[in-house]
Parts: sequence; structure tokens; C-alpha cells
Amino acid sequence: MIAASFVADPGSEPASAEPVSANIVRADGRVSGADRAQNFGHDSATVWFTGLSGSGKSTLAFAVEEALIARKVATYVLDGDNIRFGLNRDLGFSPEDRTENIRRIGEVCRLFQDSGMIVLTAFISPYVADREQVRALHAEGRFIEVFVDTPLEVCEARDVKGLYKKARAGEIPEFSGISAPYEPPVNPEITVDTSKDLDACVAEILAKLPIEPA
Ligand code: ADX
Repeated sequence: MIAASFVADPGSEPASAEPVSANIVRADGRVSGADRAQNFGHDSATVWFTGLSGSGKSTLAFAVEEALIARKVATYVLDGDNIRFGLNRDLGFSPEDRTENIRRIGEVCRLFQDSGMIVLTAFISPYVADREQVRALHAEGRFIEVFVDTPLEVCEARDVKGLYKKARAGEIPEFSGISAPYEPPVNPEITVDTSKDLDACVAEILAKLPIEPA
């Protein structure tokens, strides 16, 4: 399925995002996002997983990536923890830093859109406003918000990384769900119930992506 209507236009950056210097001029390429997507044989999309730490975002994103690669779909996962080792290693967990974290990743997603790929992201992204900013960078229907709706009690009981225990002991300040907010999505495209088995969750997500059915 290739949507000719999709135009990933790097020239459509909102006016609020002017560069710091007036002496910067856009360079136009010779192919469009739609041309690139056509090469891949599927549309591009951003699949944005949001939820508490330990909710299963990364597990789900990596499982969806594996399923897409098996279908020869061009895809990549941007994972919150991993990105904080590189691109966003200068950012902490204050509200301002989290907003900047998500702003940068939104821009990276937009680049992936223009490349024609399906990008999957796994960030807590605790603020509705930040996620809506990212949505606004996307063409209609190209931003698929996936709420990984695992209750805090379950995330805390799992405590895969041992972080909830530290947060409760006061060793990690501003921990999402404990001492920092998490705002659930208002109207997500998909809500995943992670008490179901992983394959069922993956199938539910795949069914909503702009790829041919398996
Ligand atoms: S976000 O809030 O800015 O979107 P992000 O997804 O990049 O967060 O990073 C979250 C990961 O960082 C968590 O899964 C956890 O492993 C780790 N982490 C370390 N400190 C914190 C904290 N104070 N709050 C939440 N997660 C934290």
C-alpha cells in the first residue's frame, strides 16, 4: 500500500522553529519522502510507545521491529534508555529535560518519516503536550500513539531494573509515577493491555500499520 497523498515536506517546518541565524537557507533534494517510501514498498509512520518505566515499551517495540523486519519493512527502534547514551546524553529527568528529550526525538522521527521508514519509539514521554507537539510534526495519520497501559503496581512489582525500589527509597529523584507525573494519552490510536501475551499485542499493533497484511 503506497499513499501518493503522503508528502513528507521538510520545508513545512512550523514558523516557531526558525533557526537562530537568518543566514541559513534550506537545501532542496530531488526526491520526496513519498519517492523514498515507494522504494521501500510501504508507507512511513511513527509508532510512538508511551507508558511508565517497566511497562513494556521497549519489549513491545523490539518485538514489532522483529516482526516488521521479517516482512522486509524498513524500520528502526529509538529507545529511551539507549538514546540517553548518545544523542541525549546531556539530558536528565527534570520536566525541561524530558521536554527537550521528546522534542529532539520528534525531530528525529520526522527525519525518519522523510526517509520513508517506519520508526518505533520507546520513551516514557510523560507529558501530553510534548507528545502532541510530536504528533503535530506529522502528516495526518502518520503518528500512531500506542499507550502501553501497564498499571504502576504491576511495573513496580516487576521492577526489572530495580529502579522503583531505589525511587521509593528516595535514591532516584523525580521518578515517573512515584515522584514525577505521568499523563496518560487522551485519545491514543492503540491501547495495549500487557497482561495479554506478547504475540497478541504485536499482532494488534501490526494490524494498524501501513503495511500489507502478512
Ligand atoms: S522520558 O521521561 O524523558 O521520556 P526516557 O524514556 O527517555 O524518559 O527514559 C526513561 C528511562 O530512564 C527509564 O526506563 C529508566 O530506565 C531510566 N530512568 C532513570 N531515572 C529516571 C527517572 N527519574 N524517571 C524515569 N525514568 C528514569
